Amino acid sequence: MIFLTVLFLFVLIILAVTAIDAFLVIRFLSDIYSDFKGAPFVPVPYGVGRKMLELAGVGPDDVLFDLGCGDGRLLLMAVRDFGARRAVGYEVSPFPYLKALLRAMLWKKARNGRIKIYRRDLFSVDLDQATVVVLYLTEKLLERLKIKLQKELKPGVRIVTARYPINGWREEEKDNSAQFPIWLYRNRNLEK
Ligand SMILES: C[S@@+](CC[C@H](N)C(=O)[O-])C[C@H]1O[C@@H](n2cnc3c(N)ncnc32)[C@H](O)[C@@H]1O
Repeated sequence: MIFLTVLFLFVLIILAVTAIDAFLVIRFLSDIYSDFKGAPFVPVPYGVGRKMLELAGVGPDDVLFDLGCGDGRLLLMAVRDFGARRAVGYEVSPFPYLKALLRAMLWKKARNGRIKIYRRDLFSVDLDQATVVVLYLTEKLLERLKIKLQKELKPGVRIVTARYPINGWREEEKDNSAQFPIWLYRNRNLEK
């Protein structure tokens, strides 16, 4: 009997260690993939996120897009705390994508269609529906994305970036009150 109990515990420990290892490997590979695609998975601090949405003036008429949505925290905040009509996130990397899905599933308003999360490269996304775009990416990725934003966004759409500006664009406002700076742009007369 003692032998069987010890064996059972041993198998249990092996399974637990294997599961933890698998999780760490997936996380590690997912992080490498994020870096490879252009920006690491570093969720925006909540205070900065809130400021981004305030600066954009997110409200009930808005459809917010988060390009590279990480764990989906800005999507939830936009719908729950700012009453956005819809929030749509695109995330290329499996680990943050699953985290965002789980987070949205656990929150009931997400289930009635106000939050959508897709595992997609942000360069393949149709931006037609967006009224606000939030970005927490690298300077290099912003530089590449700039052309797509200008080409596809409707006039007047607000674009908010955290930590890095979009070089060459004229901002409507800049906020320095959070942990790092935030820029607000409006899709009209963007070039300096
Ligand atoms: C700095 S995190 C920001 C996450 C989230 N927007 C936030 O503010 O908490 C950048 C995210 O962009 C994702 N990402 C990087 N390149 C991408 C691409 N080409 N398409 C979609 N997502 C991408 C990364 O996997 C990462 O989760």
